[in-house]
Amino acid sequence: MDFIDVINNRRAVNFFDPDKDVSDETLKSIIETAAKVPSSFNLQPWSLIVLRDHEEKMRLQSLAWNQPKVSEAPVTLIVLADRDGWKEDHRFVEKNFQEMIKTGAMTEEQRQWFTDARISLYGESEEKQLAFACKNTGFFAMALMLAAKNLGLDTHPMDGFDHEAVRKEFNIPDNYWIPLLMAVGYFNKDMELALPKWRKNFEEIVVTFH
Ligand SMILES: Cc1cc2nc3c(=O)[nH]c(=O)nc-3n(C[C@H](O)[C@H](O)[C@H](O)COP(=O)(O)O)c2cc1C
Repeated sequence: MDFIDVINNRRAVNFFDPDKDVSDETLKSIIETAAKVPSSFNLQPWSLIVLRDHEEKMRLQSLAWNQPKVSEAPVTLIVLADRDGWKEDHRFVEKNFQEMIKTGAMTEEQRQWFTDARISLYGESEEKQLAFACKNTGFFAMALMLAAKNLGLDTHPMDGFDHEAVRKEFNIPDNYWIPLLMAVGYFNKDMELALPKWRKNFEEIVVTFH
């Protein structure tokens, strides 16, 4: 699909085809395509819990405003943003550093600089750690939706859920924030797609402050 078609045709759909599953292979392809998005220092502070089991999805639905799409979609993702994803002892921070050394993007001598830079950007406050985790994971989540659309699937992002209740129910450690849930599947063509929503235009988006 052309990029512009992917952008124009992606919608938050409410109805998923009950007869069309999402194969493991398709899901993996969507996730690994989305993982190409950029992230601060390439730290990639996102993770996903993949729910396919009906009973598990119902447990989530009961904590998500009882939105039927949570259980009707063949796959529902709990998107996780790791607030600790910049810290020195985090396993992907060291992996990231070693990978940068391999490609020549950094040298061993720059280790201290890399540590200090992360601390100065994210170490100052919980707000900055939350922003770090959620902004990067937001890019990833958007790319998941576009990668799904590109393969003919549809999605629905949701923040209508009880954050702390979902954290407890699914044993999600405290370092993760849950920016959104995402239903993934194939649109049920027997149902009507809601009319496209309005968007802010150029003049409404661009601002100046004097
Ligand atoms: C982060 C986020 C959270 C959302 N949460 C919900 C939700 O809980 N329930 C819902 O019905 N729609 C939810 N939406 C869908 C939006 O209402 C929808 O994307 C918007 O109205 C634009 O429609 P479109 O995606 O079809 O273009 C959410 C969208 C985003 C990006």
